[in-house]
Amino acid sequence: MGITYNEQNRTFMLRAADSLYAIAIVDEGYLCHAYYGKNVADEDLTYLLRLDENPFVPSKNNRDRACFLDATYLEYPSFGIGDYRECAFRIIDENGFSATDLRYDSHRIFSGKPKLEGLPATFADENQAQTLEITLKDKRTSLYVTLRYSTFENLPVIARSVSVENKGCVNIHLNSIMSACVDFDEDDYDMITLYGSWARERTASRVPLHHGKQLVDSARGESSHQYNPFFVLCSKNADEETGDAYGFSLVYSGNFKALCEVSQHNSTRAMLGINPLDFEWLLEPNARFDAPEAILVYSDCGLGKMSRTYHDLYREHLIRSKYKYSPRPILINNWEATYFNFDDKKLLDIAKQSAELGIEMLVMDDGWFGHRDSDNSSLGDWFVYESKIKCGLKNLVDEVNALGMKFGIWFEPEMVSPDSELFREHPDWAIQVPDMDMTLCREQYVLDFSRKDVRDCIYGRLKDILKSANIEYVKWDMNRQLTEVGSAMLKANCQRELWHRYVLGVYDMMERLVTDFPDLLLENCSGGGARFDPGMLYYSPQIWCSDDTDAIERLRIQYGTSLCYPPSAMGAHVSVCPNHTSGRWAPFKTRGIVAMAGTFGYELDITKLSDEDKQCVKEQIADYKKYNKLMICGDQYRLGNVNSDRSFDAWIFVSKDKSQAILSVVQIDSRISTHSRRIKISGLDENAFYKNNEDGSVLSGKALKYCGINIKGLYGDFAAKTIYFTKCDN
Ligand code: GLA
Repeated sequence: MGITYNEQNRTFMLRAADSLYAIAIVDEGYLCHAYYGKNVADEDLTYLLRLDENPFVPSKNNRDRACFLDATYLEYPSFGIGDYRECAFRIIDENGFSATDLRYDSHRIFSGKPKLEGLPATFADENQAQTLEITLKDKRTSLYVTLRYSTFENLPVIARSVSVENKGCVNIHLNSIMSACVDFDEDDYDMITLYGSWARERTASRVPLHHGKQLVDSARGESSHQYNPFFVLCSKNADEETGDAYGFSLVYSGNFKALCEVSQHNSTRAMLGINPLDFEWLLEPNARFDAPEAILVYSDCGLGKMSRTYHDLYREHLIRSKYKYSPRPILINNWEATYFNFDDKKLLDIAKQSAELGIEMLVMDDGWFGHRDSDNSSLGDWFVYESKIKCGLKNLVDEVNALGMKFGIWFEPEMVSPDSELFREHPDWAIQVPDMDMTLCREQYVLDFSRKDVRDCIYGRLKDILKSANIEYVKWDMNRQLTEVGSAMLKANCQRELWHRYVLGVYDMMERLVTDFPDLLLENCSGGGARFDPGMLYYSPQIWCSDDTDAIERLRIQYGTSLCYPPSAMGAHVSVCPNHTSGRWAPFKTRGIVAMAGTFGYELDITKLSDEDKQCVKEQIADYKKYNKLMICGDQYRLGNVNSDRSFDAWIFVSKDKSQAILSVVQIDSRISTHSRRIKISGLDENAFYKNNEDGSVLSGKALKYCGINIKGLYGDFAAKTIYFTKCDN
């Protein structure tokens, strides 16, 4: 296990759980990628590079170096010297030249994992991880590029990041610095990406690779509703249990590019990093730039194992909140209950009824500040709207606390409304290009968070509010994407840095928040789930999944999200029917079962619920208390696929010791048939016996997996049920 270097064949072997990643330094110092996949014994794998097959190996025959570079599997290809596939690294120097030639310079292997300054990243202590740093050098410019690879104890994960340092004496403009690049020997893969739009986030799409480039990206200033900074390359036969799956996930919340390119030689280059589109960074002498971290996961047992590896890694080594493994308070949010139309009295009515039913926290959403009665004003004026919260914020929170409930609040710190005191005082604080109309979106502009003065002012206002009362939860929203990207403070040759500087500014704000308020439960949100990415998970243990709270739509959204992100991070609430987004009706029970595969809570006017639904709330809360630990700490096995089978969905959460499990089944189309539905249950101990606590029957884990159980037809579309299994003696 771990990372080794073999002097003889100049090969690095990175062993992570049962996976192996091999890198070789070849003649003339090119750094080549030899292998990524299932672990094998310590053998010389350099034959995989086919160096002896190529007639034009530079050290032997230099007459066609470009031909060599265009076919070789390079670990970090730079632009301009003959590799015409997508490059990972591109600059423009002071004289306008863009070619660089990166060759091996040095390396070091050490225990633990260094931090990335100002960026979110996975963490591990000295006993949990090992790191390899390989430094490459471009002789002409004296640029030193350091590739960093960390392996984790017991997880088939490689965390990669890249830094570049200018040790020359002239300025360099960085145009592309991807975080990871892997050359695969074959093209026989499917590519899975997550696409969507507002209220339809992270729908999984699976297509075969073809010659040329296929990619998803964002140039919107955030990771986006439209695509997620994540993709999978998998063998054609890969399903939940079998086949190879390689996951690529970027720990970043801004513009990204995720690409696969099938080459003329039928090899595949996979790449992930900051989107080079409109990116530029001035690197002065002695300056350094750190690119965000990319997380690579290899699974030899299909998509299920890949996802569970991401879930474990992100829970254990990315999320820092004290809430990561502890039950979150069951919350009720007033957004879908009232929208902007509320006051302190209405909130207290909701709180009183909620407390009676066992709900544990009231979250006051948008509309409590400035003079905000609709989405057309007041962002930036983070002062209590006194004619709405007439009793004052402190009194409101105290009254909610007196009911035995916690209190949470909504902010949208990155934004400013044209109709706000803040904008009237500081119009230059909004991101804009001089002499150009500023594009409105949801009637708001984006604040220039690259500026410390702007961040200091907004943070001060947030902090004052949070200190003014016992506020234990914050929902941090971000409801528009960036346009006319320009800053009043950046010089002309640094304007293109704003995209990345903006994201660093957001990270700085969130870091301050979680440092000053370590017990705060922070939930991220962006017009629903437009910033559901690992960068955000570093600051908040949960992210609002989507403004679409329809339980049936949520099956698809939560399925796609679960490919990379742990269910414990998925903000999910029970709302009313007909659903406000889709108009669909689904049983109250089903809405609870689907929301319980996420953080669970309510988003409805509880004062208007029928007695029957109120009784159901009580039952759901009892279930949550009983099973939530299993969901936030256990392993999830997906047993259905709503993308391919629109008739049902199913999943099971199994405790790590496999002693108990909770199965959920949702019927999408009712079956008018005497036949029950057979569901095969993975994840249990095949050699143990389990009691089905619904009917008392006992079956072995093996029978449950290979034979399955019969789920009798549930009455009506969208009906759902759960079954609790416990390990028992036969
Ligand atoms: C976004 C969020 C919603 C709600 C509104 C408030 O759309 O996703 O949950 O907070 O903003 O304006």
